[in-house]
Amino acid sequence: MSAEPYLWGGHFEEAPDSALQAFAASLPVDKRMWREDIAGSYAHARMLANVGVISESDAKAIIAGLGRIAMRIESGDFDFLMADEDIHMAIERALVADIGEAGKRLHTGRSRNDQVATDTRLYLKTRTASLIDQLAALRRVIIQLAEDNQDVIMPGYTHLQKAQPVLFAHHLLAYFWMFTRDSQRIKAAHQAANASPLGAAALAGTSYPLDREAVASDLGFIDATGAPVVIPNSLDAVSDRDFLLDAIYACSTTMMHLSRLCEELVLWSSDEFAYITMSDSYSTGSSIMPQKKNPDYAELVRGKTGRVYGDLMALLTTMKGLPLAYNKDMQEDKAATFEALDTLEHSLSAVGGMLSTLTVNADRMLAAARGGYMAATDLADWLVGLGLPFREAHAVVNRLVLTVEKTGRSLQDLTLAEMREVSTLFDDQALSVLDIKSVVTARTTFGGTASWRVKEQLELAKAAL
Ligand code: ARG
Repeated sequence: MSAEPYLWGGHFEEAPDSALQAFAASLPVDKRMWREDIAGSYAHARMLANVGVISESDAKAIIAGLGRIAMRIESGDFDFLMADEDIHMAIERALVADIGEAGKRLHTGRSRNDQVATDTRLYLKTRTASLIDQLAALRRVIIQLAEDNQDVIMPGYTHLQKAQPVLFAHHLLAYFWMFTRDSQRIKAAHQAANASPLGAAALAGTSYPLDREAVASDLGFIDATGAPVVIPNSLDAVSDRDFLLDAIYACSTTMMHLSRLCEELVLWSSDEFAYITMSDSYSTGSSIMPQKKNPDYAELVRGKTGRVYGDLMALLTTMKGLPLAYNKDMQEDKAATFEALDTLEHSLSAVGGMLSTLTVNADRMLAAARGGYMAATDLADWLVGLGLPFREAHAVVNRLVLTVEKTGRSLQDLTLAEMREVSTLFDDQALSVLDIKSVVTARTTFGGTASWRVKEQLELAKAAL
């Protein structure tokens, strides 16, 4: 039994037992929104006084009391009681305990339904803004790594089979553009959250002459021109969580990109590839196999991606059958959203750390690029340039591949004499076509891997930051 009567408990004769209270409470999850809750209450109280619903002195007492509560929470000197159910009631109870009568006037013209929607929107705006900053930092790390390794050639793959050589910088920049779009998606979620529900009250609006625009402006729910953004339908304001879904979707897509990058880091750091060496600080050892250096953190980012997808599914499913307006099911929104935001935040800093501390094994990459006959297409194209039909050129190069395959060499190891045994069209120029560097240099379409194109791309990437 709770010692304190519930704020809503007037017509209830019995309070729920403590196990039920814990089941129903969102406090452990939503207490992290205390700053937003207090900010929302400041704005509401100021507005109530401005429109004459409460007195100036009550508003002053409320604002001073909320300030003291903020200090107590900040310093860890605040008792969160499960009986308070959520952060809104915890703060209101403490306010009433502190300032009495005036505290009881704060909730005039407001419901926890528009309050929680407001807090969540404010909280999401802060978190998405910092994710955008984090993504910018990661994109900077990628640019740096690409810039530091501009001449490094690696195999490009399709089906995880060597296909055509590419610049390592080009490969890295592919991720730069993914994270650029992720950043735009997160920005869109930030925009979606940028509208004020306050004044919707429980569901239908309120009979008090509230100034919704003033509250919206006060809380920073403003558009690019500085005009307040207020949700135009009170039912919609308290009953949708699509802005959270936008955010979790944006987190999911970003995690998917991080996960693919981490998968490559795992592959590349294996002995089979050895394209990179992960720094010790981003690897772990094995408790039984002394030789092991495991890319645990990359694996974990890959693994945690599943959780974030789960959060998206969970909230979509929670919302799908709910009649308008608020339903308690919606309380589940925050655990899902916070997990997605937290997971992405931690993953972004882990991946940024991995990329800025890894060692690039340029020789291994180049050696791998020389193997695998990746110049074969270019050599065939060269023969076509001399007038040979493509099918015949294809057959000629096929025979060369067979020759080197039998002897375990790469195309670059062929002598001109060996080549001329297969076709007398071959001359010194053919040898230079086989050079892996010229294969890269030949890919000159915009967005291609030729080194001057990659340089151009680096400039575009910097401009996009
Ligand atoms: N703790 C609730 C939530 O997170 C706040 C809104 C509760 N409103 C209500 N009428 N029970 O959704």
